[in-house]
Amino acid sequence: MTDQIRHARTVAVANQKGGVGKTTTAINLATSLALDGMRVLLIDIDPQGNLTSGVGLKGQQAPAGTIYEALLTEAPPESFVLSTSVENLSLIPADRNLTGAEIELVSVPAREQRLRRVIEPLRGRYDLIFVDCPPSLGLLTLNALVASDAVLIPLHCEYFALEGLADLVGTMRRVRSALNPALDIEGVLLTMYDDRTNLGQLVARDVREFFKEKVFETIIPRNVRLGEAPSHGIPAVLYDAKSRGAAAYVALARELRARHAA
Ligand SMILES: Nc1ncnc2c1ncn2[C@@H]1O[C@H](COP(=O)(O)OP(=O)(O)OP(=O)(O)O)[C@@H](O)[C@H]1O
Ligand SMILES: [Mg+2]
Repeated sequence: MTDQIRHARTVAVANQKGGVGKTTTAINLATSLALDGMRVLLIDIDPQGNLTSGVGLKGQQAPAGTIYEALLTEAPPESFVLSTSVENLSLIPADRNLTGAEIELVSVPAREQRLRRVIEPLRGRYDLIFVDCPPSLGLLTLNALVASDAVLIPLHCEYFALEGLADLVGTMRRVRSALNPALDIEGVLLTMYDDRTNLGQLVARDVREFFKEKVFETIIPRNVRLGEAPSHGIPAVLYDAKSRGAAAYVALARELRARHAA
């Protein structure tokens, strides 16, 4: 990789439904890939800042501030990047201030393209960039879709999993027709799967019928370690590398790499 000119593929982790595993996926997939030697940048664009706290950087700012200032000022994008405790893994952090951006961006010219402006100059420095979206289809998520090559959609394996996805797919279609024609689906990821219930299996079958080969073969099980790790500010793949949850994210990283190698 080091001999090649980098042009980081940018993947938005999005689903407007809350609590489906977006942040858990961004953290653990990115960490697995970084441990594998890829240079990875995480971008938190959720005012909840769960991604930032999940890698142990809660409340921290880069020299020029957080993603809030990155979106709303002209400071150079690299001045918003923090190192994490994981080698090869960097972060542009977010905090509560970002709540205001959704409103303040409305009056900014080319308001849907602010994140693209931040990401483009950084692509040469990384192999992959992940953007962790908030649970809404507002201006922040729109910025992520405009700035990205593809969307990774985590789906909680429960009865209403597919409900509301039409809105996300519709938003993606509008983004494609207007500002980002190449926007692709990176993959649909089944999360919080409980193999003791029939429901999980039924939902998985329905999702595969609908999204076909776009669904990752790897399924993320419901696993208590994945829920515990964020409170320690350590990615689960490091917090308990032997847990089923960690193993699933390592397998997902391998699957993602294999897809792109093919
Ligand atoms: N596979 C899993 N098994 C058990 N708990 C999980 C799993 N994945 C995520 N969790 C926990 O479930 C909660 C929601 O996960 P997460 O924060 O990743 O979802 P999200 O989609 O980013 O949520 P939000 O929409 O609020 O941003 C968190 O407390 C997380 O630790
Ligand atoms: Mg989240």
